[in-house]
Parts: sequence; C-alpha cells; structure tokens
Amino acid sequence: MNSEEMLQWADDLVFTKAAKHLDSLQMAILEGAWQGLKYEEIAKKCHRSKSHVKNIAAELWQTLSDMLGEDINKVNARSILERKAVSTIYNYGKSSQIVSSNINSHINICGEKRQDPEEAKQRSPFPPESPQNQARSPLIDLTDAPELPYFYDRTSELSTLKQWILQAHTRLITIYGLSGIGKSAIALKLIEQIQTQFDYIIWLSLTNTPALSTLQTELKQFFGRSPQPPLPTVIDYFRSSRCLVILDDVQNIFKSSQLAGQYLAGYEDYGKFFKQIATSSHQSCLIILSWEQPREITALEALNRPARTLHLKGLGEESAEIIREKGLADEQKWSDLIALYQGHPSWLNIIASTILEFFDGSASRFLTDNNDIYLGDLETILESHFERLSES
Ligand SMILES: Nc1ncnc2c1ncn2[C@@H]1O[C@H](COP(=O)(O)OP(=O)(O)OP(=O)(O)O)[C@@H](O)[C@H]1O
Ligand SMILES: [Mg+2]
Repeated sequence: MNSEEMLQWADDLVFTKAAKHLDSLQMAILEGAWQGLKYEEIAKKCHRSKSHVKNIAAELWQTLSDMLGEDINKVNARSILERKAVSTIYNYGKSSQIVSSNINSHINICGEKRQDPEEAKQRSPFPPESPQNQARSPLIDLTDAPELPYFYDRTSELSTLKQWILQAHTRLITIYGLSGIGKSAIALKLIEQIQTQFDYIIWLSLTNTPALSTLQTELKQFFGRSPQPPLPTVIDYFRSSRCLVILDDVQNIFKSSQLAGQYLAGYEDYGKFFKQIATSSHQSCLIILSWEQPREITALEALNRPARTLHLKGLGEESAEIIREKGLADEQKWSDLIALYQGHPSWLNIIASTILEFFDGSASRFLTDNNDIYLGDLETILESHFERLSES
C-alpha cells in the first residue's frame, strides 16, 4: 500500500462515518505521518503554524482513534492505518465500498449506503444495552446536516456538552446563538466525538416548519430501519435504545417580533414534546439548535430537570485560523479584527473575503479605512435577526 492509497482509504472511512471529506491540512498531516515527518516539517510544507498543525493533528488522531477503536498517534499511525486498511480491503473487496475496518461496525450514512437490518443482526449479536456492545456502531442519518469544511477550537464548549450528555445523561440540550456563530458546526463535531455512545443518530432541520406529527413520523421511520420490532412512539425508541436527535433551525417554529421562544400557532405541541423528552425517563438525548431559546427549557432548568442550555458565543484566539485560511496579510492586526467582529466565525469569513476583494488582503488598510464597524454583506444577516426582535 502506498501513501496515496492510504489517503484514499482514510478519506473513504471518514466520509462513510461522518459524511465529510478530509480537508487538505488533514491529508497533509496523514501523509506527513506516513513519511515520518516532524510537525514542524509538515507545518512548513503547508505554510501553517506548528501549533495549528499540532492542534488539527490531535483532533484527527482522536477522530481516527474513535472510528477505528485503537489509540492512534503520529508515531503509530502508519502501522495501524496500514493494518486496518489492508484488513478492510481483504474483508470487503474494494476500498471504495468500505463501511469500516472495524468488523462490528455497520455505520451507514443516508444517501450513501443504508444498513441492511439482516446484516446488522449478523454483525451485532448483542442487544444494544448489553455490556458487550459498549462501543456502539450507530445508524446515522446526517442528510439534513450542513457540511463542515473547517473546525477550530470550541474545546471547552465541546467538553461541557460531552459532560452533560455522557456523564450527566442530560436528555434535552439547547444550543442557541446568533446565525453563523457555529451551532451546526459544533453539533457536527460533537457527533464525530461521541457517536460510538449511541445506537441511532439523526439530524433533522425545521427550516420547512414540519408539523410535530410529520417530524415524529420521520423519526419513527428512521428508527424503524433497525432490526428491532417497530415501537409505537418516539419516546419508546428513546427508552429502548440510545438515540441522539439533533433538531436544527428550531427558531423557525417561533414567532418573530415577539418575546423570544413563543411557538407559532399550530406548533405549540412542540413545547409539550420537548418537555416530555426532558421529564420522562429514557436513555437518549435531543439537541435543539436555535437562534432563540424555547421558553419551557428555562423553567425545566430551574426545576433541576435534565435540561441544559449552551449560549454559543464567538470563537477565541483560534478564529485567527479562519483569517489565515483566507490568506490575509498583516497578522499583527488580526487580533483587532477578531475583537471588532467578536470572533464570530461567519462574520470573520465574510469580512475577510471583503478585505481580499477590496483591500488587497491587507487587514491593516481595512482597519485604517474603517473607523466604525464595517458591515457590508453582514447587513442582511443582521437584519434577519433584527426583524425577529420584539418592540421592547
Ligand atoms: N469552530 C469553527 N471553526 C471554523 N469555522 C467555523 C466554526 N464554527 C463555525 N464555522 C463556520 O462558520 C459558518 C457558520 O457556522 P454554522 O453554520 O455552524 O452556524 P450556525 O450557528 O449553525 O448558523 P445558523 O443559525 O444560520 O444555522 C460555517 O461556514 C462554518 O464552517
Ligand atoms: Mg446552523
């Protein structure tokens, strides 16, 4: 096996497991590890800082370790990946159809290749809750999820979320914050890191404001793909298996121009559904992504119910990587730019493109020419938030 075949294999693996491809830096790190290069040498080759390469590499090793069930690092990556890849190709015949090199794994992404229930039965002889099946191979549907080309930082938010879900068994989590702040991005990263703890993972968007009954039918259809007999309600599935459901764009079922978190007419039953998920006994988790917080969650938190809320704010210093990725000049001015746009990843992306287009990539010239905050293409995004505000 040569390094190109290994990269193709690793990319297939990550795509099958997480519905996304390795980016160029991750590829360079894998290739560098394969060639026995130091992080410093990899960083030089890719024109990145050594610390950034090390951070991305640490995440990559963690991801691959979770996916392959072995502790992978730069030193052992070559031997483990080679062994896993060869065994997969041997078992499945063709690397482009790899499900996983872990024989027990039957993860399938929608739009790719769904799990055959009979095949799942043969591969997973233990019931999901049995100790033998601690590291689970979930059925995953990320069809509704956006792509995640890059991801930086959010270490502390991710560890908070993992603590809530894995240790405190929180049943209902709301991640709320401005549009583009990174709610979907952090949820995707979270899935990548905790997927082996669940039997089912599904991402559904409320952009088209489905009625609750439609959403529940969709969930039951998804859970019904497993080999177990069909169950009457979503909560029954939540009790019998570990399900992780991500509901994205939940602000769409809230009224605008009113105090935040009030349901549109005809959507009040969502509130009851959320409350039922927080208060009834089960082993699953629902994550709500929204611009606004649903009203009942605050009350549930106050009653010490297993519901938690994360207000997502800007990225820290790591948002410099967004600017680096764009290729702006004047690194000494980047922290001013980050402070001005509050580390908001989407705003920084947009402003960096403006600087490239109109200021020749010079952060310094942009800041000198704009004493006040410059909005440009951000204006329409901010307007969509502004329109939703109540009079008060
Ligand atoms: N931690 C991060 N590192 C790098 N890029 C990020 C990060 N978080 C978000 N982004 C980028 O910012 C953009 C917006 O992120 P995302 O779609 O997750 O925002 P959102 O909060 O879900 O927005 P919306 O409410 O509009 O759905 C995306 O292009 C994403 O790649
Ligand atoms: Mg989103």
